[in-house]
Amino acid sequence: MEQKPATMVILGATGDLTRRLLFPAIYRLYAQREWTPAHIIGYAVEAWSREQFCDHIEGNLKTFVKEFQPHVWQKLREQIDYQPGDLTAGKLAALKSKIAGPALFYLGLPPQLFSQAAGGLGQAGLNQESAGWRRLVVEKPFGWDLASARELGKGLHQWWREDQIFRIDHFLGKDTAQNILVFRFINRLLESVWNGAHIAQVQITFAETLGLEGRWQYYDRAGALRDMLQNHLLQLFALVAMEPPSEWDAEDLHNHKAEVLRAVRQIPDDQVLQFAAAGQYGKGQVGSQPVPGYQQEEGISAHSTTETFAAVKLYVDNWRWHGVPFYLRSGKRLAADYAEIAVQLKPVPPKLFGHGLADWLVFRMKPEEAIDLMMWAKKPGLELDTESIVLSAPYKRTGGNEYSAYEQLLLEVLKGDQSIFPRLDEVEEAWRVVDPILKAWSQQPPEDYAAGSEGPAGQDRILEAGQRWRHLGS
Ligand code: BG6
Repeated sequence: MEQKPATMVILGATGDLTRRLLFPAIYRLYAQREWTPAHIIGYAVEAWSREQFCDHIEGNLKTFVKEFQPHVWQKLREQIDYQPGDLTAGKLAALKSKIAGPALFYLGLPPQLFSQAAGGLGQAGLNQESAGWRRLVVEKPFGWDLASARELGKGLHQWWREDQIFRIDHFLGKDTAQNILVFRFINRLLESVWNGAHIAQVQITFAETLGLEGRWQYYDRAGALRDMLQNHLLQLFALVAMEPPSEWDAEDLHNHKAEVLRAVRQIPDDQVLQFAAAGQYGKGQVGSQPVPGYQQEEGISAHSTTETFAAVKLYVDNWRWHGVPFYLRSGKRLAADYAEIAVQLKPVPPKLFGHGLADWLVFRMKPEEAIDLMMWAKKPGLELDTESIVLSAPYKRTGGNEYSAYEQLLLEVLKGDQSIFPRLDEVEEAWRVVDPILKAWSQQPPEDYAAGSEGPAGQDRILEAGQRWRHLGS
């Protein structure tokens, strides 16, 4: 049966996420004719009129969409509605008469309201699928630790089935993340070396020059470990380390990701120092720009011990990865905007060409997307000298439209395909991995690093003998 077009309800529609990320993505999908919504309903406590809401969105689209076209917006604007209200079932019930068919409910709300919103929608009967599917989209963070993630999971499951819940980890909507799987599982060459017999280490780095960007209220509670490692970087890790699924199917992908996350060795409470390093930026210079230290940022206390840099070493206790360290790190106000997933192969026996000639396979995410294979070859000339060479495949859409991860994510929600949305057990396993670190870090302040540097010196402490962090911008 042909489904009716879907209605999208955004709860928390006057907030930052909606104006900066969600509406620009909706606009681009609409402009590129990828999606024509039945109706988009903004829902929030502000007693705004429909006109006020539309004007607010329009102002922001002009800022956040490069190719803003007034005539496209005028048509989209006709499909937009606004409903003021709080998260009680009584108020949410006002949405019922506005939704005729399938609908997705996007929680663009502060995380402490997720459960309440999911419950309110459920109590109002908006989760009922008699007129078409109903889906709930939740942004991170899914909890603040394992216990609260479980609690939140239970809260949502009281009213929504797991197959109705789409947890956004926007990194999984990025092309490079998807390409890790495609590249791994489409090229025969890789599988034979993709294991501890041939791989020496994996480094997953996400470095930013940005500071807080006005998000201090959230960030000072979260810190780098919760903000980046527990979700984005552990998801990238799972894509690199999971077993090949037999089918390209959401359940299969989730099962394999959950399995490898479950195989991550628990860090003993008394060994966190050997496995994890925290840092906080002090004042410094990013490019030629002097910048204040974290504790001098607007809203942040001069005694804040929130980490703005986190590095973690993980081992995977399974046959494939036995003995291979996976290093994950991310930080704010670092030397470069640089992100990559770098896989180092073990060196060949040294007898022929000397020590240390190991290859790297690097999935670059920032500043450009590319896959680089760094190998060794004979240097042209009469001597038998070697030199490093790079086989590089830039990964770019030529002449394509502007797009962000959110377009991909929204389209997948509309399709009902959960492949790129973490399942609850993946989220819980990721919390299990970081929980001992959170506990230890709550007892000791992070180490200082200068803004604009490569991060705290203490990150070297967690490396295995003979291994070094790759340079930011390698
Ligand atoms: C977000 C984090 O999830 O990801 C931010 O909360 C971070 O702190 C951002 O800056 C990075 O993602 P992107 O897509 O903006 O590079």
